[in-house]
Parts: sequence; structure tokens; C-alpha cells
Amino acid sequence: MTANPDLVRNLHLQAKACDKLGSPFNAGLLTLAAEDLDAGGPTADLLAPWATASLKTAFDDATALRLVGGLHDLVLSGDAADLAGLYPAPGRAADPALAWPAARAAMITHRDRLIDFLDHEPQTNEVRRSVCLAPGFLTLAAETGLPIRAFEIAASAGLNLNWDRYHYQFGAASWGDPDAAVRLDTEWTGPAPPVGARIEVTERAACDRRPVDLTDPSLRRRLLAYVWPDQFERLARIRAAIDLALALEVKVEAADAVAWTAAHAAPKAGAVTCLYHSVFWQYMPAASQARSARPSPTSAPGRRRPPPSPGCAWSRTRGTWPRCRSA
Ligand SMILES: C[S@@+](CC[C@H](N)C(=O)[O-])C[C@H]1O[C@@H](n2cnc3c(N)ncnc32)[C@H](O)[C@@H]1O
Repeated sequence: MTANPDLVRNLHLQAKACDKLGSPFNAGLLTLAAEDLDAGGPTADLLAPWATASLKTAFDDATALRLVGGLHDLVLSGDAADLAGLYPAPGRAADPALAWPAARAAMITHRDRLIDFLDHEPQTNEVRRSVCLAPGFLTLAAETGLPIRAFEIAASAGLNLNWDRYHYQFGAASWGDPDAAVRLDTEWTGPAPPVGARIEVTERAACDRRPVDLTDPSLRRRLLAYVWPDQFERLARIRAAIDLALALEVKVEAADAVAWTAAHAAPKAGAVTCLYHSVFWQYMPAASQARSARPSPTSAPGRRRPPPSPGCAWSRTRGTWPRCRSA
């Protein structure tokens, strides 16, 4: 059977994106996988559910990222030692061309398990997005002088629920726990965030349509698997954030964002209530966006200056990656 040209193209385009975004290893694997798909190799078998998919569907489904995520998950599991030995590791460069034959063989040996992995919608939790969220909280605290009630929607595993327990470097200004294992920095232009503000979080809660249960080792590994294998700093950071979330027994409720917000995040006197999210808005149906963004007498999503109390602020990151030159 002839390979789906859109799917082959999807793998090539994702390879280019990986290369541009700092994962030459995944870029190399995906290029070789595209060739294998074209030749009817085991990649074609694993990607059979997308055999007739359009380029758009393949992108929307993150097909290429499922494939490299599945291979990384296998490596992290310790069940494919040959492949693991050829994967990047700190202090050891890896060549995708050398890893490819082992990856291809693993696609055959571990076929059912990879098919099962690829069947799930990818789900990530990017801790680095806290570098954009924390300045918002600092501003709220500085402007209101009030304690904060923090409600995160679409929180995934809840790693950004601990935004006030990390250490930050916003250009020249720093803030947070100096001993924190999770350390985030960013380029910063414009006035520094008010790092002198007193932060007191009196309530914090989160929901996700499909929360990642960090107490389940296979789900923990799945979250790590979507981090690109040659991005050691990101891997170390998410591991540290997971350890902290487990130690603090962070909970994310399984609920739809709109219903959960209505049930849990009403403003209360004496604190500023902040509803926040990162890389979620684009996933919301338009009707839900409109309902969530509609200001009411007691809540003012999107307001720059929340009323002193009772108050509600709404904070969100935009785009797909936090490049916080300003908040
Ligand atoms: C790209 S992830 C972002 C996760 C996290 N906020 C972060 O920045 O790492 C999008 C998240 O939205 C969640 N999601 C999508 N639709 C939702 C809904 N209607 N209600 C709650 N969560 C939803 C998904 O389950 C997923 O965890």
C-alpha cells in the first residue's frame, strides 16, 4: 500500500520543528521514520490509524509527537535497553542515525505497547509556564495587598499550582525560594515585576478534564516521555516539579473548566481570587470562551486592576511557549 503523503509530510515538518526548537535527536528520528513510513516499514503499521488522515488531522492529533513520545516512554521504562543505550543522556551525545535501527526493531518487538501509547491524546504539563504566571500573581499581591486564592483550570498534573514554591530569575530581578529545586529564568524587558510584594496563598485548587495522576508511575513516565529526550534541563526541571507535587500531595480534580469554575471560584471577601490557566484557551469551545470571559458585577475576568475585595482576577498565558520578555 502506498504511504499517505500527508502523513509522511507531517513527520518531515515535525522533524524540522524539532530541529528548530532544540531537539536534533527527535528531528533525526522523525526524518528516518518518515522514510520508513514511505517504504512501508513498521512506522506505517504503528501509524495505521492515520493512514488516510489529512495533514491538518495529523497535526491536530500530534501524530509525530505521539510516535517520538512512545519511543521515549519505552526508553524511560527500562524495557528496551538496546535503544536506551543509544538515546541521549547528560554527558553523552547521541546520533539518531545510530539509534534508528534499534528504534525500528523496538517498533516491531514492542508493537502492542506502542500502539497503546499512540492511542492516547498527548498531554503535557510545562512547568516553565510558571515564569509567566508568577509575575501576574506578584502584581495582584502588590496592587491589592491581599492574600491570594489561586484556582487553576486545565492544570494537567498540577505542576503550575506550585508557582510560589519555585525560584525565578526575571532578568536582573529574582524572586522565590532560594533553595528551590525548580528554578526558572527568562529574558525580561520593561519594568521588573514587583518582587517585593508579600505573597500569601490562602487557598489553591485545580481541575482538568483529564488530570494526570502523578501517583501512577506509568502516567508520570508518560508525562516525562513527551519532553524531548535531548532537552536535559527540561527533563530535570519537570522531574523536580513532580517530586515536589508528590511531596505536597497536589490534587487536580477531574472536571470541565467552565463547570468547575462556576462551582469553586466565586470571589470571597478578604482575598483576591485568581482564576488562571496556561495554554488552554485555544482548546475551549467558542461558546465556553464567551461564557468564561463575560464580566459580571462580582467578577471581572481580564481586568488589569481587580477591585480590592471581594475581587476576581483572571490570568492566562498566551501562545504556546512562555517567552516572557514582559508579563
Ligand atoms: C496543552 S495542555 C496545558 C496544561 C497546563 N496548563 C500547562 O500549561 O502545562 C491543555 C490541558 O487542557 C485540558 N483541557 C482541555 N479541555 C478542557 C476542559 N474543557 N476542561 C478542563 N480541562 C481541559 C487538557 O486535558 C490538558 O491537560
